[in-house]
Amino acid sequence: MSEFDVYDPGIYAEGVPHEAFRRMRAEAPIYWHAEPDGGRGYWALTKYADLIAVSKNPTLFSSARGATFIKDANDMDLPVLQTFMLNMDPPQHIRFRNLVKHAFVPKSLPALEPRIKKMVRQIIDKVAPVGQCDFVNDIAAQLPLQVIAEMIGVPDGDRDMVFEWSNKMTAFDDPELHQNEGDSSQQAAMEMYQYAGELGQQRVDNPGDDLISMLMKGVADGGLSAMEFASFFMLLFVAGNETTRNATSGGMIALLENPEQRARLVADPSLIPTAVEEILRWVSPLIYFRRTATKDCEIRGQAIKENDKVVMYYPAANRDEEVFANANSFDIGRTPNDHLAFGVGQHWCLGANLARVELRCMFEEILLRLPQLELADQPKRLRSNFLNGIKSMPVRFPPERVRAMP
Ligand code: HEM
Repeated sequence: MSEFDVYDPGIYAEGVPHEAFRRMRAEAPIYWHAEPDGGRGYWALTKYADLIAVSKNPTLFSSARGATFIKDANDMDLPVLQTFMLNMDPPQHIRFRNLVKHAFVPKSLPALEPRIKKMVRQIIDKVAPVGQCDFVNDIAAQLPLQVIAEMIGVPDGDRDMVFEWSNKMTAFDDPELHQNEGDSSQQAAMEMYQYAGELGQQRVDNPGDDLISMLMKGVADGGLSAMEFASFFMLLFVAGNETTRNATSGGMIALLENPEQRARLVADPSLIPTAVEEILRWVSPLIYFRRTATKDCEIRGQAIKENDKVVMYYPAANRDEEVFANANSFDIGRTPNDHLAFGVGQHWCLGANLARVELRCMFEEILLRLPQLELADQPKRLRSNFLNGIKSMPVRFPPERVRAMP
């Protein structure tokens, strides 16, 4: 297809193509990438500085035009996608972000942290006496869903249903996860959207002191409309679910592959915050987001035409040798570590601090309770050029006999 291929989802089933990214950074940092299935092609960006420049200029590089996936959305899907803040531009994006951001500010997180710790303890309680499990499904996947449901205030009785929808909605490029499911991911999305709309409306009629009621306090008072709430609800589940799950699984693999780093962390758990940042840099759970040029311009001297697609590759920028010393070494004490795993600029991940808390609590508990965890079989990777995903990862460990924590 092209000299470099970093599009084919099949390649990612074997691993992130770091060698291709390294050569692209060195030889073709603004690389014209062909696209299969009649796609019109795109500019692939792999340098740290270029990702920052593009992300910080939403007027020139739009998230709304054609949305943020490489494939152009069709005329029917585009207006729907543009109801998600991820695919909005200023001023609409600024209004939306201002409405929802207070729920995610660091000062509201300490209140959530004890609840997250408790959830993590319960997740590990379930597997610890057994001595083996699937790390992805039994450990990594559990926490993000529970945290988002708790945070938004999804009623307990509805949670399993919401979790099932969100699991069905993801991983659309991997046939193994979608055997005989037909359009079930679209169906799940529709059902979830409808459910969220109704949930929002309920809180308009009977407000409480939860996040949903706060967001639904009425458009006139600066709140969200029922439709806006439904889109936000879905985005939280999509954006906050697989990303954090894959950071956990990918981080565990990185620790297993670098036993000296793992031993260092076990010996000194005060390194967990820097270890989490290194895991985020190393794994880069999201592979790309796209922008579209709103007029003719240049990046690094390369002419870009209006409506050209510009794709920012986070795993590539996060190993840019110009920014990170020994970029290809996994170093749990790395400082500074200004990685771009959460993006940068206007759309900087709204859940970044929440994800950080989740990952810290998770690794604290795993290292304490399952210090000898090891692979029982090879992990299976997701076939996706968007999510750096692990589908399954059988692990074993000496069964825990006595609860480590009261
Ligand atoms: C390790 C976990 C995560 C990673 C790697 C990640 C990554 C990202 C990235 C790269 C963006 C920027 C998109 C862009 O520039 O177009 C983003 C945006 C976003 N993320 Fe995350 N995310 C994670 C966890 C979460 C969580 C836990 C939540 C919420 C519960 C969340 C909610 C969002 C939302 C709502 C946006 C859109 C923000 C906007 O458009 O202004 N993310 N995320």
